[in-house]
Amino acid sequence: MSAIFLYGPPASGKTTVGRNLSLSLGRPFFDLDEVIEEKVGKKIPAIFEEGGEALFRKIEKETLFELTRKENFNSSVVSLGGGTLLDPENRMLAERVGRVWLLEAPSPEELEKRFQRNPNARPLGNKAEERKEHYASFKSRIAKTFLLPTSLVIVGEGLGPLCDFAKLVIADTNAANCQPEALKNTALELIPSGEEIKNITTIEKIWGLLNDHAIGRKDIIASFGGGVTSDLVGFAAATWMRGIDWINFPTTLLAMVDASTGGKTGCDLAIGKNLVGAFHSPRLILIDADRLNTLPLKELKVGKAEMIKHALISGSEPKFSEIPTAREIADNLKVKVDIVREDPFERSGKRILLNCGHTVGHALELMSNFTISHGEAVAIGCVEEARIAQRMGLAKDSFPEELAEVFSAHGLPTKLPEGIVLDDLKLIMRRDKKRSGNTVTFSLPCAWGSVIATKISLE
Ligand SMILES: NC(=O)c1ccc[n+]([C@@H]2O[C@H](COP(=O)([O-])OP(=O)(O)OC[C@H]3O[C@@H](n4cnc5c(N)ncnc54)[C@H](O)[C@@H]3O)[C@@H](O)[C@H]2O)c1
Ligand SMILES: [Zn+2]
Repeated sequence: MSAIFLYGPPASGKTTVGRNLSLSLGRPFFDLDEVIEEKVGKKIPAIFEEGGEALFRKIEKETLFELTRKENFNSSVVSLGGGTLLDPENRMLAERVGRVWLLEAPSPEELEKRFQRNPNARPLGNKAEERKEHYASFKSRIAKTFLLPTSLVIVGEGLGPLCDFAKLVIADTNAANCQPEALKNTALELIPSGEEIKNITTIEKIWGLLNDHAIGRKDIIASFGGGVTSDLVGFAAATWMRGIDWINFPTTLLAMVDASTGGKTGCDLAIGKNLVGAFHSPRLILIDADRLNTLPLKELKVGKAEMIKHALISGSEPKFSEIPTAREIADNLKVKVDIVREDPFERSGKRILLNCGHTVGHALELMSNFTISHGEAVAIGCVEEARIAQRMGLAKDSFPEELAEVFSAHGLPTKLPEGIVLDDLKLIMRRDKKRSGNTVTFSLPCAWGSVIATKISLE
């Protein structure tokens, strides 16, 4: 095991994230400032008053060295002070005995706000700007975190190998072959890739693996792969011994911005997709944008279709890099996180907004016998559903074309394939999960930032 140090500018959230991370991983937690206060029996401002920064740094260094010699240190999560690693010896030590994750500061305005709110503000004030170069020199970075009722979501880059985060990692074979560095020194089992294996036979195989590895009630398992892997591993975790904890390491863009969050797990049956499953959120969702470096373009596009859908729902600008960065992923994921927070079990109706473009999209995927990818189907589905909104007088005449341009700009198709018209899809849509009688609830894109759940009869 190796310790994880959380580091970053004052008020970047080191203590909160550290505490939550330690809870997620079931590891001990130390906050260096608290350990210092306990050791000298004084509050940090009092130490500054007594001997200035020089005295504080001296005590901080001693305390850090002592902490690393504690018996349970190797398995711990440690929140450092905002300037602890300015000292080269401290930095060398931390990087030798553990790994350092740097929490990026939010915007300067947000940081200033947090800083003002924090009554225990450090006597040195807001140092983010002054120490910019120092903080920039750390390669493992957390761009943003979200705390959901049962999950901590960390979005970053360069976060390093998974090692011992879970007793067993179950990985998609493709993803594991493409990302050997991420799985170095990890207890690993592979499952095949592809939607065709998202079935109860694979679930049974995973239960068998859990048995082989003696996974008990208190152990944590993990998924490493796209949405297929996490749906399967999450469902196996939900059912093994009536539910054990799990961690999700998504490796596709779709899984990062969509499938990883929201608690849905499950598998397909011969009679339909995603028909069995359970809500069982992972304790930790660790999104490392570095995983995208090996993801085929085709799969990147699938994720981008969902990113555009999120931007459409929230009204934000659909702008992201060729390979989206951690911050772009986090900003986009926030749209789903906010909706899931309001409607965790898909009961209040809010969550149906995420289905935008999917009623037509799912029908199209089925009709094409899945030769059209999910992303392509969502892109075409959004545009077709915008056309429905326009015909119903809910969207401006120009809106479907404007929306089509956005998807096209990201290389996604926007027209139904030759030979298929909307009426052909109606028969399939009548079997949609969001139906009641012959009425199906669509989440219609009506304008950028306005998606409206609308019941439509498909008679
Ligand atoms: N639980 C939910 O809320 C939810 C939401 C949306 C979708 N889903 C489910 O997600 C699944 C689709 O997920 P997906 O698009 O991630 O597909 P996927 O898991 O099949 O992955 C797509 C392909 O990418 C490969 N791959 C994965 N990571 C890689 C990497 N880093 N480098 C190279 N190759 C890599 C995989 O081997 C696979 O061939 C569907 O089954 C869908 O039902 C679930
Ligand atoms: Zn989707």
